[in-house]
Order: sequence, then structure tokens, then C-alpha cells
Amino acid sequence: MNILMLGRGKTGSVVAEVARERRHHVGVAGSAENADAAALSAKNLHDVDAVIDFTAPHCILANITACAQAGKNMVVGTTGWYGDLDRVRKLIAQQETGFLYAANFSVGVNLFLDVARAAAAALRHDYSGQIFERHHAGKKDAPSGTAMAMQRIVREASGSREDLEITSFREGEVVGLHELVLESPTDRIYLCHDAKSRRGFAEGAVRAAEWLAGKKGFFDFNDVWREL
Ligand SMILES: NC(=O)c1ccc[n+]([C@@H]2O[C@H](COP(=O)([O-])OP(=O)(O)OC[C@H]3O[C@@H](n4cnc5c(N)ncnc54)[C@H](OP(=O)(O)O)[C@@H]3O)[C@@H](O)[C@H]2O)c1
Repeated sequence: MNILMLGRGKTGSVVAEVARERRHHVGVAGSAENADAAALSAKNLHDVDAVIDFTAPHCILANITACAQAGKNMVVGTTGWYGDLDRVRKLIAQQETGFLYAANFSVGVNLFLDVARAAAAALRHDYSGQIFERHHAGKKDAPSGTAMAMQRIVREASGSREDLEITSFREGEVVGLHELVLESPTDRIYLCHDAKSRRGFAEGAVRAAEWLAGKKGFFDFNDVWREL
């Protein structure tokens, strides 16, 4: 495929590397080339099969809008915009493009969320729960999209009306560490996922773009990763 990679930061650069390893042609646009979505005109995107976005919350909606208006499929790893999910879902339906997003493109994290879903049963017994997440000091949003996804999954699976508290830490070079701690008067359950590198996110995002080829509609990676 011809892939346009938006963002050449810590994660986008690894996504471009993995896409090239998987024999895709990859163009890259960072903030200089893509101010006000300048790189995303229909003309510029003419030969592009899919756009993958690992940029920042301030520009993601402009990027999504431009890609949809140009009729291009898009995979979004950027977090911090989920208050606009409904608006984006409507836009994708109107423009009849393909769109796939994830707070976390790592297959390991998605397995971990399944484990958290099963463990949420503890809250129907004598347990209370807490979520902790740690990321590098440069991460712009908090809590992480993954921690919020875990919070929602645990609430829905436990039938509870209250959300677990999320505590966020920003320090050093931590790639991404998420913990669910369930505590009763007699014991404590720790569940932890610790990303060793950004490669897991990158492989998931590129395989998601391959999966999305030729499809239309609005997809959450959580619903499709088992098919990859
Ligand atoms: N879903 C997942 O699996 C996953 C995994 C990791 C990270 N993320 C998310 O992905 C995003 C990026 O993370 P990161 O760690 O790679 O951040 P980063 O190192 O800060 O990189 C962000 C990149 O975005 C570029 N950028 C900013 N505005 C742009 C624009 N208008 N057009 C094109 N590029 C633009 C920056 O370019 P300049 O340097 O040129 O300004 C930079 O290369 C964050 O939202 C993060 O939470 C998601």
C-alpha cells in the first residue's frame, strides 16, 4: 500500500519503520509539512491508500476531517480526542470512508483488557479497585486513553455505577505501564501490563491499516484485533 504517516515522533517513526519492513511505500509528514492539515488535500492524497496518524490532540480533528473529505481510509493512534468520538463517527458515515482507531494498538494490551474484564467480577464481591498508569514525561494527555478504556470496561463488566479512580504518573522514559489493583480485606490482586518498546503499538497500527484496506465504516481496534 501507499501509506502516508502523520507524525514522525517517538511512535510515528517506529510505525513508518514497521510499515517499510512490511513492504509498504511510506511517505511522512510532520508538523512543518502539515500545518492546518496542508498535507491532506485531495490532490496530495490522490495516490495514498491509507493515512496513519500518531500526532497530537491539537491537530487530530483537522487531520481526520481532511482525510474523510478526501475520501481516504485512516488509522488513528493519537489519543486525547475521545470527547469528539460521536462527531467523528457521523463524519465517517457521511463521507463513506474507512476509519479505525485505538487508544492502544498493542495486541498484548488488548489481551490485558480482556483479563481486566474477567477480573472485574471481583467488584461484585468484597473488593475495591484502583487503576494506575505510568508514562514518559513528554506524554501530553492524562489519564492515558488505555487507562480510561480499562475504567470503562471494568465498570461495564462489574455492573457498577461508579468508575474506578485512575492515578497517572509522568516520569522518565516509561513507554507505558498500566495496573489494575483489586483489594479485599483478605487479599490483593495485581494485574499489570508493561510495554517494553513502541514496536507493539507500531505492528498493531500497520496491521490495522492492512485490515482496513477496501473497507468502509468506523472501527475500534478492540473489536477487530482478534482477526489480524
Ligand atoms: N494508540 C496507540 O497505540 C498509541 C501508542 C503510543 C502513542 N500514542 C499516541 O500517539 C500520539 C503521538 O505519540 P508520540 O509518543 O509519538 O508523540 P511525539 O513523540 O510527541 O510525536 C508527535 C508527532 O506529531 C507531530 N505533529 C504535531 N502536529 C502535527 C501535524 N499537524 N501534522 C503532522 N504531524 C504533527 C510532531 O511533529 P514535530 O516534531 O515536527 O512537531 C511529532 O512528530 C499521542 O497522542 C500518543 O498518546 C498512541
